Amino acid sequence: MKVLVTGGTGFIGSHTCCELLDADYDVVVIDNFSNSKSDVIDKIKKITGKDFKFYEGDVCDKSLLNKIFSENKIDAVIHFAGYKAVGESVAKPLMYYRNNIDSTLSLLETMNEFGCKKIAFSSSATVYGKPKSLPIKEDFSLSTTNPYGSTKLMIEDILRDLYVSDNDWSIAILRYFNPIGAHKSGLIGENPNDIPNNLMPYIVKVATGELECLSVFGNDYDTPDGTGVRDYIHVVDLAKGHIKAIEHILNSRGVDAYNLGTGHGYSVLDLVKTFMDVNGVNVKYKITDRRPGDIDACYADPSKARDILGWEARLGIEDMCRDAYNFVKNVKED
Ligand SMILES: NC(=O)c1ccc[n+]([C@@H]2O[C@H](COP(=O)([O-])OP(=O)(O)OC[C@H]3O[C@@H](n4cnc5c(N)ncnc54)[C@H](O)[C@@H]3O)[C@@H](O)[C@H]2O)c1
Repeated sequence: MKVLVTGGTGFIGSHTCCELLDADYDVVVIDNFSNSKSDVIDKIKKITGKDFKFYEGDVCDKSLLNKIFSENKIDAVIHFAGYKAVGESVAKPLMYYRNNIDSTLSLLETMNEFGCKKIAFSSSATVYGKPKSLPIKEDFSLSTTNPYGSTKLMIEDILRDLYVSDNDWSIAILRYFNPIGAHKSGLIGENPNDIPNNLMPYIVKVATGELECLSVFGNDYDTPDGTGVRDYIHVVDLAKGHIKAIEHILNSRGVDAYNLGTGHGYSVLDLVKTFMDVNGVNVKYKITDRRPGDIDACYADPSKARDILGWEARLGIEDMCRDAYNFVKNVKED
């Protein structure tokens, strides 16, 4: 079976390529390196001991997609490519709508033309907006608070409309909670060049001395220690969820959404303290004002993915903290 992975050199895509290759899928990757580096290709090959085809370019480029589908008989697609920074999406909404929507439309049109109608799409827990209760189930109402989230919800709607128009499609909408951690080899992971938007990359940069102090945004939330609670999931567990989703869509038709989370919520301070304990390092932090738009707590009910896809997260926050730090130490030693 041949799977096209868009955005396959990115954080989640690279880990998913490793799992696909380990499971003996043929893998074809397209990425334009807008948020990744070309050396990831060799690292994936080193980790898995397997080769795969890579195309450098933009998923919005229909002529390139045409070439990829002409040169390879693609059975299914995993669509990771897209911009993902919430704050940047507020500052540059047109860039986000153009890239995330246009790439998806070009991809779906090309898939349709080539009769490839199986896709797993990277959505996000952000489509639940402010959830009415916890844990979050897939049938909760959907809304968004920023352009990034709106692109995810629009794409979900496009996929649902597509299935209504043609029941041959098989579509898995995967709503990720908070992926962190890295591959245990220390070769691939997440190490943004800029000031990180997300908590774990920030913690790591404070631990390595690149940044001085972590700001914890608010300690008066309605949570056990007052800091925000999120459902952190190890990126390798998340990647394995894609293999289960691909197995499922290869053997079914329909459109369905699945929460990919652990079902457990941890606070900012839980994560910081576990990181310090597991890695034996200090992470300086200070409590600052709440960040506009943040919610008290968010965690998944992942039982639908367990019951239908046969997938469950296995790794804990200790693994996530250890592997995230190991990766960045490794990068710095390179
Ligand atoms: N990381 C998270 O916290 C998170 C949470 C929920 C959903 N998601 C979604 O999962 C997907 C993957 O996330 P990630 O963390 O691996 O992000 P990432 O930025 O590390 O990976 C995305 C990859 O897509 C590439 N890309 C972007 N636009 C492209 C285009 N038009 N053509 C070709 N390549 C393009 C980038 O170069 C990058 O390699 C994204 O769609 C993201 O919105 C991520």
